[in-house]
Order: sequence, then structure tokens, then C-alpha cells
Amino acid sequence: MKTIPEIKIQEKLQQVFKGRIRVNEPLSSHTYIKIGGPVDLFLSPVDIEDLKAAVEFLDQANIPRVMIGKGSNLLVSDESLPIAAIKLNSPFFQEITKQDNSVYARAGVSLAKFINFSKNNRLSGSEFLAGIPGSIGGAIFMNAGTRNISLENSKQLCSISDIVSQVQVMDKHGNVKIIAKEDIKFTYRDCGLTDQIILAAWFELKPLAQEIIAQNIEAFLNNKLSTQELVLPNAGCIFKNPAKSKLSAGALIDQAKLKGCSIGDAEISFIHANFIVNKGNASFSQVRSLIAKIQETVENKYSICLEPEVKIWDKEGLK
Ligand code: EPU
Repeated sequence: MKTIPEIKIQEKLQQVFKGRIRVNEPLSSHTYIKIGGPVDLFLSPVDIEDLKAAVEFLDQANIPRVMIGKGSNLLVSDESLPIAAIKLNSPFFQEITKQDNSVYARAGVSLAKFINFSKNNRLSGSEFLAGIPGSIGGAIFMNAGTRNISLENSKQLCSISDIVSQVQVMDKHGNVKIIAKEDIKFTYRDCGLTDQIILAAWFELKPLAQEIIAQNIEAFLNNKLSTQELVLPNAGCIFKNPAKSKLSAGALIDQAKLKGCSIGDAEISFIHANFIVNKGNASFSQVRSLIAKIQETVENKYSICLEPEVKIWDKEGLK
């Protein structure tokens, strides 16, 4: 990865960009696991035009850029990264409205706000997202989901793609487009929109009594509270559930007796084995080493290659 040349990038950027610019911003303040070194630029555009100005500027200056949501599924190197991180957290990107049974939410809306808004408008369908600490942008990008505890077969996964009808994106040339769900390749924890910036989405929900929606939300939250790591900083599930195994990644790691195994302050959660917690000052390399140890152990024991679900950003690349 190239380093940003020693020129007054910030001053030049200020001529075209209206939003907030932070220089050398540590990403540890923007990730749930509280790990991550500084990025050269951290930008919060005020609206779509401003985002477009930032994208054009960064592309012309050859500065790699990444989008960051709530940072809940993200593991970032402690080293400084010569990149720009863009966060859609200005008031414009937190707008949410509804028309009939359809809710329109911009990328910076938190999932908690989306769920509450839907409940207050007596619209059901988003309850399964309760307790996922994400934003609409991040949740669409990752096709966030959970197990559907309201169905008899609780093994069934439900994903945000189940309720999406359209997504508004900015393509790599700065053009804004609306893509229908049918034209998006949603799969397990992926939306396939790699070169696009998610700006907003429309959700098709169903009318339901508010009390029932509230009960559904509580059931999903209680399920999370009893099965997942909610106290110590973490990055959500580290691995995807392997397609070819009957057992989930968490169950495989648990059966390999890895719960509680630690490297420095990085520890495999005692509550859910697919979570790594930061007990204080865990470093990026400690978490990486623990990830490698889990992969090696599970591979040796079960001949299953666990694929990370977390996005990993380091000097080698932004994956
Ligand atoms: N299990 C164990 N030991 C553990 C953890 C789980 O034996 O340490 C067993 C459980 O008893 C259960 C099975 O593994 O029989 C599955 O566990 P769980 O119901 O917790 O679901 P999961 O597959 O581990 C998935 C999502 C979670 C989502 C939950 C909601 C993935 C990788 N994970 O977890 O999503 O919250 O369902 O139930 O798809 C995330 O993606 O970051 C995430 C947290």
C-alpha cells in the first residue's frame, strides 16, 4: 500500500469538501473491539454531493478509501494506515421516513433507530435485527442476519435482504443509482456491491400491533443476551458458519476446547466461542494470532477451513 505524499492534502480537500475532516484519527475509537491505528484522513460528508466531492478528490489523489459503519464487524491493524475512512454519520445520512408499509432509511441510521421507528409506525419485519450493533449501510453491505427464533425451525437464518426492496448506491464514478433487490446478489453475509457505496435502502414491512412487535424485539434481544458476548469489546462473530458442516463455527471452536484460550488480552469468549473479546489492551496481532490458532486447530481436528466473517484492514490490504 502506498503512503500519502507529504503535501497539504487537508487544505486542498477543504476547498471542495464541506464535511468534517479528521487527520490521523485512531480507528480504535470507531471499532467495537477498540482496536485500530490511525488513518490519514477520516471524513464525514454532509450529504451525497459532499460524498461525491470526497470520492472524486481521493480518487484523483490516489488515496485508497474505505467506508466505515458502526465498526462492529471490523478488525483493524494498530499500525497507521495511509488511507481515508469515510463515515456517513452526518444528520443527512441519519434520516428515516416512511410511506405506507415502506420504510426508507439512509446508510447512517443505526439498526436500533430503524427497529424503533418501524415499531412506532406499527410496521413489523425488522425485529430480528434487534441487538445487532450496526448501521443500515454496514448491515446491507454485510447482509447482516440472525437465526429466526420465531420460526419453529430456529436454525433458519434471516438476513436484512429478506426485507429490502431497493438500495440506493453511489457507483465508483460518483453516479447515484437505485438498484432493485432482484438485481443485487445477496448471499450469506455479503451483498456483492463491492465497488459501490450504500447510501440508503427501502424496506418492505407488514402492519402489526405495536405490542406484538415489542414482544418480538424483546425475544430477539433476550436470545442475544443469553447466548452472546455483550459486555466485553468484540467484533461480532469472527468466522462465517461453514457451509459444509452441520455444526456452526461457534460449536466447532467450542468442541475443539478453545473457549477461554488467550493470547495477551485477546481471548476466545467463554459465552460464545465464535467471539474474540478484548480484555483490555489486546493488539491487532494478538487477535490475528488467535484467529490463526483457531483456524489451525479446527482444520487439524475437523478438516474444516473456517473463513473469517470479520473484515480485516491492514497494510496488506482491506479485506
Ligand atoms: N454453540 C456452541 N458453543 C458456542 C456457541 C454456539 O456449541 O460457544 C452452538 C449453539 O448451542 C447452537 C449453535 O452452536 O446449537 C449455533 O449457535 P448460535 O445460535 O449462537 O448461532 P451462530 O450460528 O453461532 C449466528 C450468527 C450470529 C447471530 C446468531 C443469532 C453467524 C456466523 N453468526 O450465530 O451473527 O447473531 O446466529 O442467533 O452467522 C455475526 O454475524 O457477527 C453474528 C453475531
